[in-house]
Amino acid sequence: MDKPTICVAVPLEDELITPLLAEGRVIQINGAQVPRSELLSALSNVDGLISPTSVRIDSEFLEATPQLQVISQAAVGYNNVDIASATKHGVAICNTPGVLNAAVADLTMVIIISLARRLFEFEAYSRSGAWGRRETSPPLGHDIKGKTLGVVGFGRIGQEVARRMQNLGMRVIWYDVFNTAPPSAPKAMYRSLDDLMSESDFITIHTNLTTESQHLIGAHELSLMRPDAYIVNTARGPVIDQAALVQVLQSGAIAGAGLDVLEIEPPEPNEPIVSLPNVLTFPHIGTASEETRFAMRELAVRNLLAVMKGATPPAIVNPEALG
Ligand code: GLV
Repeated sequence: MDKPTICVAVPLEDELITPLLAEGRVIQINGAQVPRSELLSALSNVDGLISPTSVRIDSEFLEATPQLQVISQAAVGYNNVDIASATKHGVAICNTPGVLNAAVADLTMVIIISLARRLFEFEAYSRSGAWGRRETSPPLGHDIKGKTLGVVGFGRIGQEVARRMQNLGMRVIWYDVFNTAPPSAPKAMYRSLDDLMSESDFITIHTNLTTESQHLIGAHELSLMRPDAYIVNTARGPVIDQAALVQVLQSGAIAGAGLDVLEIEPPEPNEPIVSLPNVLTFPHIGTASEETRFAMRELAVRNLLAVMKGATPPAIVNPEALG
């Protein structure tokens, strides 16, 4: 039997290519850069693909790639993939949960503390020489100790954030589509989404992006926030209605926001949210540490190889596609 063909469409270290070469013929392509038509024709007789999340995997894609058994992505989120269609085509979709929890939770914690203590304003005050010139300093921030953190999406990352923030003295409440947390979850009270929005000093978003969670936080939910409350999003931009968020930020109806994700990434050049004075934005860096990104790529390779060998992969989104 011919060796299978594996397409690696993301940058991958030689040490991660080696196990793939043992399994099949490997072709490498820059999936994030090549035009879609070129990508699809390169994949027409490929059996396994390591794909960037910037590629839309829909029925057109799956029909053009009839030999594909598995698409493995080095990411936990898979909102670029039409899962039902992949399952219908018998294509396993693999992701990388778990290995990135700490990195995303660390960034979330830092953003919460930075907002509370006005860290970036003080840093700019120092860097610009204003401190040296003895200019009036920015207003004082607030302690997080004793404040309420509302976690929207109480899965792996939401729980990891809750643990960190409880250790720092915050009181945690949470909302999810389920209202009973697993026994391993940190002890915290469930709230309806409306109650969580109005009760929290800080709200942090950790849901995955689905048709149900798109604009889960809209004008109504934002209107429930207190004027001294902040919202943080390190999950996916479209979970928050960004136009509605800009309005409450500009009017001062809420205190501020910390966003590692936006509705459109990268943002349009004139996107107002990135320059609002009460907003910190970051270019989607939740998992962006050397160690975590390597662990994600390594798990993506293990997932792909497991499916190609007929085994159950460590992480799969649609196990029913394994037949
Ligand atoms: C990052 O955004 C991921 O989904 O892993």
